[in-house]
Amino acid sequence: MGIFSKSTGGFREAKGDLILENVTKSFATFTAVDDLSLTVPRGSFFALLGPSGCGKTTTLRMVAGLEQPTAGRVKIGSTDLTGSRPYERPVNTVFQSYALFPHLTVRDNVAFGPKRRGVADAVAEANKTLELVQLSHLADRKPTQLSGGQQQRVAVARALVNHPEVLLLDEPLGALDLKLRREMQVELKRIQMEVGLTFVHVTHDQEEAMTMADTVAVMNLGKIEQMGAPEVLYDLPRTKFVANFLGQSNLLHGTVQGTDGDSVVIGSGDHKVKVRQARMATGEGGEAIFGVRPEKTRIHDTDPGPQLSGASIGPGTLLDVSFSGVATQYLVEIPGVGRWAVYEQNLDLDRIDNKPGDQVWISWNPGHAFGVRS
Ligand SMILES: Nc1ncnc2c1ncn2[C@@H]1O[C@H](COP(=O)(O)OP(=O)(O)OP(=O)(O)O)[C@@H](O)[C@H]1O
Ligand SMILES: [Mg+2]
Repeated sequence: MGIFSKSTGGFREAKGDLILENVTKSFATFTAVDDLSLTVPRGSFFALLGPSGCGKTTTLRMVAGLEQPTAGRVKIGSTDLTGSRPYERPVNTVFQSYALFPHLTVRDNVAFGPKRRGVADAVAEANKTLELVQLSHLADRKPTQLSGGQQQRVAVARALVNHPEVLLLDEPLGALDLKLRREMQVELKRIQMEVGLTFVHVTHDQEEAMTMADTVAVMNLGKIEQMGAPEVLYDLPRTKFVANFLGQSNLLHGTVQGTDGDSVVIGSGDHKVKVRQARMATGEGGEAIFGVRPEKTRIHDTDPGPQLSGASIGPGTLLDVSFSGVATQYLVEIPGVGRWAVYEQNLDLDRIDNKPGDQVWISWNPGHAFGVRS
C-alpha cells in the first residue's frame, strides 16, 4: 500500500470490494442501467467497456453518489453507501475534461481538496502525490503550461491525494493522441499497482480495456454481457456482441445438426463446422452461431481436404488482400455465410499468390472455434 495506508477524515469508513447489487437507473421511461450486479475485488483494475450510450457513465455516477439508483444497492465491503452524498463516499472521479483550476499552480490544484478538508499537512500530501505521478518538477506551473498528458496526471493526483478507497476514471485518456494515450495507459497501470487502490476505468476502446485491466466487463444496453480476465473473454466470448466488440470474429449462423465425439456440429447450407461442447454458449439444439478469430485462421488456394472437415470452409471468393508488413489480411466472401477475414503473420516464404476474384479455402485449429448466443 505504500504511501496511501493512512486514513483521512471526511469519508465514511468503508473498505473492501466494490459491490453493485441489482442496480437499475431509469430516466423517465428509459432504463439506462438495467439490473446490474457486479463485484470489483479490492485493489484490482476493472474496466467497463461498451459502446456509446450503454450506461457506463451512469454506472460510475451511481458509484460516486452523483446519481441515485432507481433500485438496487451500492456497497464497499460491508458498508452500504446507497443514498449517501458524494463527499461521504471514499470515492473520487477523474473525468475526461480535467477541470483543473486555471489560476492555481499544479501543487495548489492538488492541495486544494486536503486543504478544504482541513488536513494539516495538505501541501506535503500534495507534494508526495505529485512525486507518485512524476510531476514534482512541474509543481509551480499553471495548468495551461502543461501538455494534455501532464494535465491528466494532475487530475489523477488531485483524486489520489484524497486517499479514496475507489478511483473512478471516466474516459480519462479520450482527449489524448494515440501515442500519448498508450504512454498514459502504462503510467496509470503503474500508479494503480503502486497505490494498490481499486480502479474502475470506463472506456470504449477495447484494446485499452484489455491491456490495462485485470477484469473487463463488456456492457451493452444497460447490462453486462460478459465479464472476466481479458484473455478469457477474448478466447471464449459467450455472446455475438462480445465476439464482435472485443476484437473481431468470423461468424456462421446455423443450426445444431448433432454431435461428433466431444464436438457439436453446426450446419448452414452446404457448410458444416464443429465446436467443442465445452466452448458452446448454447445448448445442443436449435439455432447456433459459430465463431473463430481471424488470426486463428489460415488461407489455402486448394481445398484443404477431409482431414480438416469441420475446421475449414470454402470455397469462397477472395475480395481483398492487404499487406501490412508483419501480416497479411485477406477478405473472403463465402456464399451463404458472409465475409470472413483471415489475418496471417508473414512467416512463410512461399506465400500464396492469389488475386481478388480467385477461389480460396479457410481452415483453423478446431480447438479455437467457439459457439455464441445471439
Ligand atoms: N440525466 C439523464 N436523463 C435522461 N437520459 C439520460 C440521462 N443521463 C444519461 N441518459 C441516457 O442514458 C443512456 C446511458 O448514458 P451514459 O452516459 O451512461 O452512456 P455511456 O455508456 O457513458 O456513453 P458514452 O460512451 O457516450 O459516454 C444514454 O442513452 C443517455 O442518453
Ligand atoms: Mg460516458
